[in-house]
Amino acid sequence: MNTLTDYLSDPRFAGIEPFSSKVWLSSPTMHGDEKRWVDDALDTNWVSTVGANINEVERMTAEKIGKKYAVGLATGTAALHLAIRLCGEKLYGQALAGHGTLEGHRVFASDMTFDATVNPIAYEGGEAVFIDTEYDTWNMDPLALKKAFEIYPDVRLIVIAHLYGTPGKIDEIRRIADAHNALIVEDAAESFGATYKTADPRRYLSAGQSDVSSSLSDASDESALQTGMFGDVSILSFNGNKVITGSAGGVLLTDSIEDANKVRKWSTQSREDAPWYQHEELGYNYRMSNIVAGVIRGQLPYLEQHIAQKKAIYERYRIGLCDLPVQMNPFDAGRSEPNWWLSCLLINEDAMCPFVRSETESLYIHESGRSCPSEILEAIAAFNAEGRPIWKPMHMQPIYRMHGFVTRSGNGRAGSNAYIQEMKTADVGMDIFRRGLCLPSDNKMTPEQQDRIIEIIHRCFQ
Ligand SMILES: Cc1ncc(COP(=O)(O)O)c(C=O)c1O
Repeated sequence: MNTLTDYLSDPRFAGIEPFSSKVWLSSPTMHGDEKRWVDDALDTNWVSTVGANINEVERMTAEKIGKKYAVGLATGTAALHLAIRLCGEKLYGQALAGHGTLEGHRVFASDMTFDATVNPIAYEGGEAVFIDTEYDTWNMDPLALKKAFEIYPDVRLIVIAHLYGTPGKIDEIRRIADAHNALIVEDAAESFGATYKTADPRRYLSAGQSDVSSSLSDASDESALQTGMFGDVSILSFNGNKVITGSAGGVLLTDSIEDANKVRKWSTQSREDAPWYQHEELGYNYRMSNIVAGVIRGQLPYLEQHIAQKKAIYERYRIGLCDLPVQMNPFDAGRSEPNWWLSCLLINEDAMCPFVRSETESLYIHESGRSCPSEILEAIAAFNAEGRPIWKPMHMQPIYRMHGFVTRSGNGRAGSNAYIQEMKTADVGMDIFRRGLCLPSDNKMTPEQQDRIIEIIHRCFQ
């Protein structure tokens, strides 16, 4: 482990200047229209969780994704909580106050994702069982999901995320879910604007919608649908680092008016129709603010522009790093168009220098021609740019260490044996975490700044 100043004085990096202002991983990009709608809320005194900006964000996001209804909420995490609670109630009935709707039940969940995807399972008293990742898109592995149903046939709920804006193998996962009568919550927090060509578009377009062309994406192939269309309930996030931001905010997407109304009620403290505060259900203060909605409303027209900028960043890295023993984060070019939220790289196994990580620290030994995520992240940080390790898989997190984890070959826990070396189980998530990293992917990064980052990465391998 080097200190940051060591990198600046290391002859390997001679001639490279630190950035005078920080190059971020992914920061908000404002355009001016945001101010207009925030001012509008202030000027009209709709400084509340009611107002025209919220209504517009709901209308615009539902229309963009192709779901019939969107409910504006405080955060993507709040949207996930209510999506999972909604499914819990559908599957297992209403819970008493103080109890979750998933108590006594397991839920299958993406393993390589941000913890906000899976924590709401615990909020509802459920037990997440993590499904290993596949190398093709770095998302939930349908083969591991199939295995998981062999081990836990009673599971009825699956929570999937599209990591870094890359759609997962949706058709395969949906087929498995349908075969087991399971519901899907789709976390499209990172993938807003990404599309996936399903072999069965009618499966996702509800009655009366199948001839509405706005439900299909702008892509020339009419079966390309937006991520967020594939869950029984789906969510988006407008967190400050997302492709469209409101500083915070999220929406829950559904085709059911009853579900939309229920979530709206829960998010505003579950008030009943009475002259006084009357409550028959547990409530939450999860509604979106009309000020936050003003920022999102101003941002939404720039979604495609932001995606194009992110795609150009990915392409520049792909070309600039192609002579190194690394690969970019993969996607299924035939069936999906990511939103390119974060550009990542994966170092080839034989180009990894000796490298260990504890729960909070890492240590490596530099070797010529090799590198590791810590060296690259520390080097670019020394030059004032922000990268990030790959999201550490949930099954490796201390909080979830006793939870089930299923790989293609079956139970991913307790597979090792002191006497039989070959019994070590494959763990794709752990491998991508070990060899991968997220690169600075800010859409305000200039080509010159990006070239300097590419050069720093080359020098790491010298
Ligand atoms: C995959 C994923 N799900 C959920 C969330 C949570 O969204 P929010 O920050 O809006 O609560 C995030 C990130 O913030 C995320 O990356």
